[in-house]
Amino acid sequence: MEAEVEGQVVWVVGAAGTIGRSIAESLVKEGARVIVSSRGIEDADPPIEGATPINVDARDMASIKAAVARIIDKFGQLDGLVVSTTLPIFGDLFELSDEDWEKVLDTKLVGSVRLTRAAAPEMIRNGRGSIVLISGLGGFNPSLTHIPGSIANAGVNLFVKGAAKRLGPENVRINSISPGAIRSPRLDAMQGKGSGIKTPMGGAGEPRDIAETVMFLLSDRSKYITGTVISVDGGGML
Ligand SMILES: NC(=O)c1ccc[n+]([C@@H]2O[C@H](COP(=O)([O-])OP(=O)(O)OC[C@H]3O[C@@H](n4cnc5c(N)ncnc54)[C@H](OP(=O)(O)O)[C@@H]3O)[C@@H](O)[C@H]2O)c1
Repeated sequence: MEAEVEGQVVWVVGAAGTIGRSIAESLVKEGARVIVSSRGIEDADPPIEGATPINVDARDMASIKAAVARIIDKFGQLDGLVVSTTLPIFGDLFELSDEDWEKVLDTKLVGSVRLTRAAAPEMIRNGRGSIVLISGLGGFNPSLTHIPGSIANAGVNLFVKGAAKRLGPENVRINSISPGAIRSPRLDAMQGKGSGIKTPMGGAGEPRDIAETVMFLLSDRSKYITGTVISVDGGGML
């Protein structure tokens, strides 16, 4: 594929995770200038070769603003933001506490809003930008043990539609990608190892399937796409 993200300054938050790491590594390979973040990314082992690590807590606006300042100080601009954060909190409706709900919604939904609000002004200043938020299949059909995460996903999908109206006139696009089952420790935690995931396209997808779609949404190939949710789920669960 042509390196259409080459030279772009792209910030990937949640890059210590399975999908975020794949996105970051793909972007580095395609010649983007990549900043990777999570709460503990500066100690990631192995590190993401070729990327600049900055610890960030998506629940803390001060830490997000400090990271944006470091990015602008080092690279002078910000072209893309990708958010792939989540917490491994699963459980029955009657077992999950208020604190569990608050942590999941604050990390993924409000965290995505915070990161967008901090990054978008730099894109507006630069005259262009693309934001990609990772949601999930549960945002359309919540799974039994993952209702808080599913509600966060639905919120993210709706947030991009609202934010696109504000950001479009500034030439900044914002979309979400809704993964289905993607091979990862998170999937094992949710479904049990070796579970027989069935989709019209066979089994579970690969993290790289999400990375490819992210690169499309960051590139000018998608320049008329905003406020949209793209499902990357092999046709959904059977
Ligand atoms: N895997 C799947 O099958 C699947 C399916 C549907 C949707 N998804 C979605 O895809 C995304 C990525 O999933 P994944 O499997 O890669 O998850 P993962 O491996 O658990 O990665 C989640 C990442 O979020 C980071 N994180 C958590 N809290 C944070 C915070 N407060 N601030 C900054 N970073 C934080 C974690 O790093 P630290 O702990 O270092 O902060 C980690 O890097 C999630 O939104 C998930 O819901 C995944």
